[in-house]
Amino acid sequence: MKKALITGITGQDGSYLAEFLLSKGYMVYGLTRRTSTVNNERIKHIQEKITLVQGDLLDQNSLSNALVEVGPEEVYNLAAQSFVGTSWNQPVLTGEITALGVVRMLEAIRMVNPKIKFYQASSSEMFGKVVESPQTERTRFYPRSPYGVAKAYGHYITVNYRESYSLFACSGILFNHESPRRGLEFVTRKITHGVARIALGLQKEISLGNLHSKRDWGFAGDYVEAMWLMLQQDFADDYVIATGENHSVKEFVELAFKYAKITNWEKYLKIDKKLLRPAEVDFLIGNATKAKKVLGWTPKVSFNDLVKLMVENDIKREKENQRV
Ligand code: NAP
Ligand code: GDD
Repeated sequence: MKKALITGITGQDGSYLAEFLLSKGYMVYGLTRRTSTVNNERIKHIQEKITLVQGDLLDQNSLSNALVEVGPEEVYNLAAQSFVGTSWNQPVLTGEITALGVVRMLEAIRMVNPKIKFYQASSSEMFGKVVESPQTERTRFYPRSPYGVAKAYGHYITVNYRESYSLFACSGILFNHESPRRGLEFVTRKITHGVARIALGLQKEISLGNLHSKRDWGFAGDYVEAMWLMLQQDFADDYVIATGENHSVKEFVELAFKYAKITNWEKYLKIDKKLLRPAEVDFLIGNATKAKKVLGWTPKVSFNDLVKLMVENDIKREKENQRV
């Protein structure tokens, strides 16, 4: 049985990847950091089937020890300070985790077992103020946030360790992907959670910042398959993972209200200038042709189905919360 270690297993992607690898017959291990309250909401349904190992991307020895303890064939590095907004408030911590955390894990692999295959969760945020559209593996980076800058370091150090030490290290440049398990601070879930509560009379309005930025939004469940496919190839490489279409935040809002059967939606929306970012990424759209050709990967869930899925899940969840 193959063993995989996932950092960030308590996050959105970590939970979907753990489910996916279990379905492929893997023994799944997850690195979790110490917190004062347990934060296993997204993995509680599979907790009996996985093993959690303590460690932190800030602590070099904890990573080496985790590799010795688990002995994985594959490591998926999904852990990060992943919220762009917070990266302006905590730029140094973001750099420590999201940038230097990657090289700590690569060093641990190099020292403990250089045969381990490594996946790095890179991001379309690296394209930032885009220099061409759609963005491919060859598009030049122009990050616009401390998070984007940290991810660019993570990407280049992954490529560098592949070239310097012949590690099997892949960088997956993933465009935005969402799900009912998305954190509440990200715009899609903030919208569907707010819309669900408005539909049930629990909330009066949603406050948002920039409605005009456009994102290439896919479903997280589809994207974790691409991570796994990258590590099953004969050669390590980097891949853009995206749907190839984009929509504005405003379109997302309109559609979410539509699926909640609310017609006069404008009256529930408030624009709050405090939610605008110091520098914005206005427009992202990915070209995943390489992933389609080499990995045979295609996204399955459409934009409309994604919004519907998220709204319906939030309505269901809020109804259940009211019953408790
Ligand atoms: P997420 O829900 O925010 O999960 C982040 C995970 O990282 C959590 O499990 C968190 O643990 C863990 N973590 C944070 N700091 C850590 C540390 N110092 N040591 C160990 N673990 C730590 O993020 P996601 O949406 O699943 O994204 C997964 C990865 O893909 C991230 O690297 C993100 O930057 C990247 N990415 C995401 C997208 C997207 O659209 N979702 C697109 C491109 C790239 P706690 O539960 O303890 O906080
Ligand atoms: N979060 C948030 N909250 N965003 C808002 C709001 C709001 O109230 N109002 C408007 N937005 C706009 C942001 O300014 C941004 O243009 C867009 O909505 C998307 O914001 P987020 O959902 O926070 O995602 P992101 O695109 O900044 O970052 C996500 O995608 C990256 C991949 O491109 C994160 O998942 C990153 O970790 C990931 O790398």
